[in-house]
Amino acid sequence: MDLFPEIWILCSLLCSVAGQAPVVSVDPRSATVRQGESVSFRCQASGTVQPVQLEWSRPNNQALPDNTKIGPDGSVLTVADARPGNHGQYRCVAVSSAGRSSANAVLNVKHAPKVRLTPAGPLRVRVGDSASVECRATGRPRPTLSWKRQGSTLNLVTSEINDVNTIKWTDMRPEESGVYICQAENNEGISEVKIQVSVDGPPGAPVASVTPAEMTVVEGQTVTMECKASGSPPPLISWSKLRAPLPWKHTVANGVLTITSVGRQDSGEYICNATNIQGYSEAYTHMEVETPPYATCLPDQVRLRPGDALMIQCLAHGSHPIEFTWSRMGRGSLSAGAETTKDGRLLIADVKMSDSGTYKCVATNRIGSSTAQAKVIVKA
Ligand SMILES: *[C@@H]1O[C@H](CO)[C@@H](O)[C@H](O)[C@H]1NC(C)=O
Repeated sequence: MDLFPEIWILCSLLCSVAGQAPVVSVDPRSATVRQGESVSFRCQASGTVQPVQLEWSRPNNQALPDNTKIGPDGSVLTVADARPGNHGQYRCVAVSSAGRSSANAVLNVKHAPKVRLTPAGPLRVRVGDSASVECRATGRPRPTLSWKRQGSTLNLVTSEINDVNTIKWTDMRPEESGVYICQAENNEGISEVKIQVSVDGPPGAPVASVTPAEMTVVEGQTVTMECKASGSPPPLISWSKLRAPLPWKHTVANGVLTITSVGRQDSGEYICNATNIQGYSEAYTHMEVETPPYATCLPDQVRLRPGDALMIQCLAHGSHPIEFTWSRMGRGSLSAGAETTKDGRLLIADVKMSDSGTYKCVATNRIGSSTAQAKVIVKA
């Protein structure tokens, strides 16, 4: 007994009497847009039985997104300002009294990656413990994922399974504390998320130290002093100057104090203070700013009669010790009756007409030297 051919013949007879279901097509059948762009799909149906009604829908009875519009006769579906959630299939269904048929369109929405970490951080781990962080990203095309440590360009060794890139640590050490970055990249862009990881030792009061412990620098230089502190939880570091405010041209970053273009008044004791709930620790450093001499003569011009006494003082600002040397312009050596002192004085007890001239004082210290002149006129 073979009933099926009979049924088929019967049906085909009835069907031709009743007319045929509409023939439906969608144009374009697939489209790719960037996030924010717009796109339209046109649905066309033909059929022997009119009227034909068109309807747009998404698979699984999902509602059409609210940024879609359907043209007046139902034939054109427009997705305006496309977003990642618009990605997927759209179905046009044509219905007439003779039946229904459908055709699908596919929309690809490209977009830059978005990254998410689990846990989101910050992450606190005890010394010797293990930890892991999972990095996931959305994005189209599918982004590639990598982990780095802040301040380094090297990719860390991680494992990637099912689009989840996981960084794992075992037996964590305090020096593994820091900021870690998961980066996702595709043709549409790059995006990254950071996580702060701190490895805590047993609770402990801070112990601070400063490098260098003392320094001598020259005026105008830029100076950096670094404070390091152990302790758990990690101590907060602050800088101050003994009995004075910090120079206004200073910055502090990661425990490093930087002073640009130091001046003589910046000399002194600098204090690093590391504080946590267990206590605090102070560390000192001494900075001496050296300056080159600046010399002047007092007086810088003198009129005398033969037989008078001459006294000129050479004065100098600048870092000590300062040495003074007197000479006579055009002659070099001083006359036999001249005398000089360590503190910069030129003395002639009994001047002669021949002592007239210009005298030069050179003040010298470790950094440099400076010259000043005095004119001596001896007239009867
Ligand atoms: C360092 O910090 C502690 C605690 O906050 C405070 O008592 C101390 O005076 C500070 N020392 C300096 C030099 O600022």
